[in-house]
Amino acid sequence: MCGIFSYCSYLTERDRKYVCQVLTNALARMEYRGYDSAGIGVDGDSPTDPFLLFKAVGKVAALKQLVDSAVPTPAPGTAQTDKQVDMTKVFLSQTSMAHTRWATHGVPSTDNCHPHVSDPLTEFSVVHNGIITNYKELKLVLQKRGYKFRTDTDTEAVAMLCKYVYDSQPNKRLNFQSLIKTVLKELEGSFAFVFKSTHFPDEIVAARRGSPLLIGVKTERKLKVDFVDVELPNEENITATASDGAGLLAVPGANGPGPKLRRQQSRAFLSEDGMPQPIEFFVASDPAAVIEHTKRVLYLEDDDIAHIAEGELHIHRLRRDDGVSSVRAIETLEIELAEIMKGQYDHFMQKEIYEQPESVVNTMRGRVNFDTGTITLGGLKAYLPVIRRGRRLLFVACGTSYHSCIAVRPVFEELTEIPVSVELASDFLDRRTPVFRDDIAIFVSQSGETADTILAMRYCLERGALCLGVVNVVGSTLSRETHSGIHINAGPEIGVASTKAYTSQYIALVMMAVQLSDDSISKAERRQQIIAALHDIPSQIKTVLSLDKSLQQLAKDTLAKEKSLLIMGRGYQFATCLEGALKIKEVSYMHSEGILAGELKHGPLALVDEHLPVIFIMTQDSLYPKTQSALAQVTARKGQPIIICNEEDKSVNDTHKVIRVPRTIDCLQGIINVVVLQCISYHLAILNGIDVDFPRNLAKSVTTE
Ligand code: G6P
Repeated sequence: MCGIFSYCSYLTERDRKYVCQVLTNALARMEYRGYDSAGIGVDGDSPTDPFLLFKAVGKVAALKQLVDSAVPTPAPGTAQTDKQVDMTKVFLSQTSMAHTRWATHGVPSTDNCHPHVSDPLTEFSVVHNGIITNYKELKLVLQKRGYKFRTDTDTEAVAMLCKYVYDSQPNKRLNFQSLIKTVLKELEGSFAFVFKSTHFPDEIVAARRGSPLLIGVKTERKLKVDFVDVELPNEENITATASDGAGLLAVPGANGPGPKLRRQQSRAFLSEDGMPQPIEFFVASDPAAVIEHTKRVLYLEDDDIAHIAEGELHIHRLRRDDGVSSVRAIETLEIELAEIMKGQYDHFMQKEIYEQPESVVNTMRGRVNFDTGTITLGGLKAYLPVIRRGRRLLFVACGTSYHSCIAVRPVFEELTEIPVSVELASDFLDRRTPVFRDDIAIFVSQSGETADTILAMRYCLERGALCLGVVNVVGSTLSRETHSGIHINAGPEIGVASTKAYTSQYIALVMMAVQLSDDSISKAERRQQIIAALHDIPSQIKTVLSLDKSLQQLAKDTLAKEKSLLIMGRGYQFATCLEGALKIKEVSYMHSEGILAGELKHGPLALVDEHLPVIFIMTQDSLYPKTQSALAQVTARKGQPIIICNEEDKSVNDTHKVIRVPRTIDCLQGIINVVVLQCISYHLAILNGIDVDFPRNLAKSVTTE
């Protein structure tokens, strides 16, 4: 969904054109998250000049064109001119910000697009991810004090609140971070912010609560230490900060001395000789936006306030003594730029479908020992006894990740003999489902940032359940806040429609089930069969991918002109049906439903005739006879099924349209079968002229409820 980026360079000469390029390129790297407008804000010609805003509805490419024209977008409340700004103007130090917006409050328009400003002179500007739930109340209070709102967004109220707090202090003593802290204390909801102000040139403040934010650091010299200290306000400051809990009208500095910080220069940025050194900071909601500049990053925690000024990064807390660690580690990102580029493929979705023979190997690497027939998931080892004693395995996820949980439910039930429930995160929260201390809650998410899944995790943490994450993005909120878990190691997934994350989640979860059962002798043979079958999965996926041309032809000849498509199967293949139908809906906009073949006669059969296309998944497993009978019911009603079956299956009649795939063990067959449906959905989207990587109305990472 929304993407935030901010660039701060200190003692490093950069011209305006370069700065704008850094910003728009970063936005392009976050395009995959889904958005409907984009904007940037850069310094004016002198420190007290208003910021220059460039905003465009639609793609980042449109924003780039606007930047090339050098004619800024007027700040709300000022008139449009066609005056060009000097793009060659050089800055020794500068701060700037950028944002891709996914409309929640107000339609996509240049006025609603970020950065948002407090007033026509842009005294305060802000970019924001998340939702401020009390913005209407704030707006009302500010309007009563004469503030004029010009957008439909919740964010504008935050920019104005900054100005209100600034204007209300009698002697303007608050520094930038103290001012923002006062503002943040008034806000309810979830957020990641970057703030900039003409009153504090070359400084920015970034803060988060419930929405991810990281800071990349680039220096010529090596940093002295790999962490940044969190600076806590001292006792004196606590009593003197009048605004604590005192509401919107109480402004620190109005009632007493301003905050005195126990200011320790952060050890990370000290140079050998104590002289200031050139440094660049990149604040982003997504590592993909900083990777081309630096791999050294620090993740902010909820309620952190990061203040960048004079080449230093200081981290403060919204409240003191809240038990959070007093240092933030500077970590090294492990993704490569090449990994997030399309390479030889036309689309990220296609690239990611084709990466699967490799990504599933990465999921198993170092974990499955095919020689000894054992599986070790390091993160789970210490928790195995607790999990085995659990009263219930509670899987919680959204979208594709939910389907991977459905896919592995039978193998968990079989191998662990613990009751399993699989929950859609939003519904789980809506029902306020009872959760107990002896529940084992497993949160599955590609991004690790899906709002509903995170809220469900916090709900379970509060109730004392053991919380495990099965996540792709390292450093994401889910991977940090769960007790332990598994990284699926599928590599960056950019296409909005999830493909390789599904197959890797599937494998990671099967590995988890196998490891959980390794204390059971009666399950030993089954475990060995699964491990042996895992070995062949990569080459079997390759075989399916070699059918891609014929799948493209099938999509063209049989499905492209249709309005609706049913996908049927049962047992292990129910999840494949759901996931296949989701892929088709997401990227081709064709109505598609995954149907449990056992439910056929309870409704769906009414839809079947010679016109409605049906894909039937009937690869061989113990339920094969039942699937055959469902197929007979469909053909008896003149249905024209397209059958996905195993290569050697002689009982499937070639008078039907047949797709033959390699056979693996029942609990893994879904991995092979789903690739067929991924390819078909991709081709249907292309045939319908749809931008597969950015389907309308959908976002890669849904970071709001
Ligand atoms: C969005 C994406 C889906 C994804 C779902 C859950 O809806 O478009 O592709 O499956 O979120 O995301 P997660 O990152 O939690 O797996």
